[in-house]
Amino acid sequence: MQTTRCLVTGCAGFVGSHLCDALLALGCTVVGVDNFFSGHRRNMAAFADHPEFHFYETCVTNTGELAALLARHAPLRVCFHLAAVVSVSWSMEHPERTLEVNYQASQRLHAACREQGARAFVFAGSAAEYGETGAAAIREEAATPDTVQASPYGRAKYLSSRLIEHSGFGVSLRCFNIYGPRQDPGSPYSGVISRFCQQALAGEPVTIFGDGGQTRDFIYVADVVQAYLLAAGLAGPHKIPLCGAFNVGRGESTSILELAAVVAGVAGSALAPRFSPSRPGDIRHSLADVGKLEAATGFLAGVAMREGLEKTVEWMRREDRDRDEADSLRARA
Ligand code: UD1
Repeated sequence: MQTTRCLVTGCAGFVGSHLCDALLALGCTVVGVDNFFSGHRRNMAAFADHPEFHFYETCVTNTGELAALLARHAPLRVCFHLAAVVSVSWSMEHPERTLEVNYQASQRLHAACREQGARAFVFAGSAAEYGETGAAAIREEAATPDTVQASPYGRAKYLSSRLIEHSGFGVSLRCFNIYGPRQDPGSPYSGVISRFCQQALAGEPVTIFGDGGQTRDFIYVADVVQAYLLAAGLAGPHKIPLCGAFNVGRGESTSILELAAVVAGVAGSALAPRFSPSRPGDIRHSLADVGKLEAATGFLAGVAMREGLEKTVEWMRREDRDRDEADSLRARA
């Protein structure tokens, strides 16, 4: 019997690597693509040697290589397209390259998958497609051609989502603030949760930009993976791939001050937060209206904030231990 063949671009990334774990556990064959621009080889450690995982180190803008691997692994049933320029600040400095990677490459891959007869195309959209809406809970219709996104990153993601929606083939998942194990805490532009957890575990106060009254809709990575499987028609009661654009969030608002308090509790830190000036262009409130995805698939995010934070902190502690062990082995060698 032939297994379900899936392409995952961005397979070494934070979300992409968790998606590969889940697809292989479902018995799928996974063709993974990554160029390690922001992904890490260590994210693939659990599945790199899996007999049903086939890895290609290349960029999604490399049309020739992508066409060759699509042909080699035809027929692909699902394409999960997550590879992208993920840093908003990098996108500000490199708008043209961002458009090339986050839009033009998506356009070509979408056309190639459609031509090949793939059953589903699932694109990693973003809440950044909405810009500043002022809405209490953001609905999918809020992103229009007139929307002014705050960055080339948001604009390119929107152009791809719109192309997919208008084509009638494929789905864009507009994820809100994703967090969990394997999210890289190492840069000033990393997600707030990975930064807070790292600071708290290092015995440092967490840094809040602004007054901490800004709010976000945080969703744990395992919930996001479930949304990807549902969108592709690989999970759920109906197993029908979705079409169009869908928000993926918990539909719950958490302020950065509240977050700091929960992280302190989970990580066992008694230090008060430190306050720094607001980040320029920071959005005040961002909350998903999750009704459209729930109506289509029954999806509701299941992992509560505290549980997700406990798993994230546990992972970070393990990473620190592994790093210390490797350092002491190297020192003894
Ligand atoms: C997130 C996305 C971004 C996307 C945007 C669109 C991440 C990492 N970034 O940005 O790609 O364009 O949604 O809606 O998911 N903060 C602190 N201290 C810190 C770090 C952050 O107080 O050390 C604050 C920020 O000022 C912000 C909030 O926490 O108000 C969330 O920040 P962040 O995790 O970077 O995500 P977004 O700004 O929402």
